[in-house]
Amino acid sequence: MARKTIWQGGTQLAPVPAVLVGCGNGTDFKYNLITVAWAGIVCSNPPMISVSIRPERYSRGLIESTGEFTVNVPTVSMAEKVDYCGMVSGRNVDKFNAANLTAKPGSKVAAPIVDECPLALECRVVHSLKLGSHIMYVGEIVAVQADSELINAKGKFEIEKADILGYAHGSYYGMGEKAGDFGFSVKKKN
Ligand SMILES: Cc1cc2nc3c(=O)[nH]c(=O)nc-3n(C[C@H](O)[C@H](O)[C@H](O)COP(=O)(O)O)c2cc1C
Repeated sequence: MARKTIWQGGTQLAPVPAVLVGCGNGTDFKYNLITVAWAGIVCSNPPMISVSIRPERYSRGLIESTGEFTVNVPTVSMAEKVDYCGMVSGRNVDKFNAANLTAKPGSKVAAPIVDECPLALECRVVHSLKLGSHIMYVGEIVAVQADSELINAKGKFEIEKADILGYAHGSYYGMGEKAGDFGFSVKKKN
């Protein structure tokens, strides 16, 4: 067995996503983007996702005021833009403009999607929970926008062609090689 070093509890889970959360509505609340790593699917039916955001973020007020946000999954080639959107605040900068990203309104929410991202999840806030350093917003995913060029003849989104960005222990990574498919361990034995 490997020798283990025991640390205090921490956030070492890896990999996690590094997503661009779109917020605002383009009218009374200007569009903004915030980079979020503390995000993940939390329910299949209804489909729900959580994003955890520090109360001092400008985006927090936008999400709470509109009750909507989008989760945009970026590509590896967008890593620098993703990092940038996590370094500057929408209080001072129009991040869509500064990062040369295209805002499009959602199909079911007024929050913007990022056109350059191959996947965008449109969400309505259904719960929020003050956890400590972060407030967790749980959003019901009411629509998904996927790059049509990545959908094959069978209607499947070809994720391996999307070159999705991941994040682990402070660094950005690509997804790397496929290691198997859901259920392949059992199929192999059969
Ligand atoms: C890779 C990365 C991951 C981040 N993850 C989070 C996160 O999960 N929650 C959060 O509140 N801030 C996170 N941040 C920091 C915010 O993105 C950053 O403070 C941003 O400038 C806030 O923008 P805003 O003031 O326009 O809302 C992350 C930043 C980076 C670069």
